[in-house]
Amino acid sequence: MGYQAHFRVWRGADDGELRDYTVEVNEGEVVLDIIHRLQATQCPDLAVRWNCKAGKCGSCSAEINGRPRLMCMTRMSTFDRSDTITVTPMRTFPLVKDLVTDVSYNYEKAREVPAFQPPAGLEPGEYRMQQVDVQRSQEFRKCIECFLCQNVCHVIRDHDDNKHAYSGPRFLMRVAELDMHPLDEAERRPEEAKEDHGLGLCNITKCCTDVCPENIHITDNALIPLKERVADRRYDPILGLFRRKKE
Ligand code: SF4
Ligand code: SF4
Ligand code: FES
Repeated sequence: MGYQAHFRVWRGADDGELRDYTVEVNEGEVVLDIIHRLQATQCPDLAVRWNCKAGKCGSCSAEINGRPRLMCMTRMSTFDRSDTITVTPMRTFPLVKDLVTDVSYNYEKAREVPAFQPPAGLEPGEYRMQQVDVQRSQEFRKCIECFLCQNVCHVIRDHDDNKHAYSGPRFLMRVAELDMHPLDEAERRPEEAKEDHGLGLCNITKCCTDVCPENIHITDNALIPLKERVADRRYDPILGLFRRKKE
């Protein structure tokens, strides 16, 4: 049976406001359905980004009752019928309009991670890896680039001026994935994570892991191992000897 739900939705740009709407909800619907109905029946100019409605394109990210979530994967049945459901854009990125933010920061950071560096003379198709190594990074490959982890990370959420020095959990995870790749020949991935991507600013609060719709254990399986590798390399007595010899 359908019912009428009370929604509060951010309208406008930075100087916009939360506006109240009453919208019909039917069985089995998700928040994105309601936003679409709102657009179709009351606000034809409501800006919202989406593509797959299946939790796979990563474009419908927003904050629902203050929690970063995918609108297409948030069932209306998780709320009480009497609840007011507040939908706001991701807070960490510049607002374009309504629920749409400019996420180009993430693409800039993606470009700063040097690509996979295969061994010289090895052609694609000739790569051979142990299954255990494939499985280790498989988890990270599930990322749909929704940027919810980037949005929730307090290092940039509360401190815009950290953005130039910090790549955020999604891209530190990319560095960790490459560092774990047995065929990657780039030697300084852990050092680059610290020096170029701001790994030291992450204080392993695990908020990124908490909001990941793919349930990737970003902190435990990527960020902490990467921090351990940085510490290993820094304090390894043998490597220390080599370093001192070079200096
Ligand atoms: S664990 Fe690190 S990357 Fe994740 S939210 Fe906390 S500070 Fe940010
Ligand atoms: S790691 Fe998870 S939260 Fe972060 S961008 Fe990928 S899928 Fe989204
Ligand atoms: S519309 Fe693709 S993840 Fe929500």
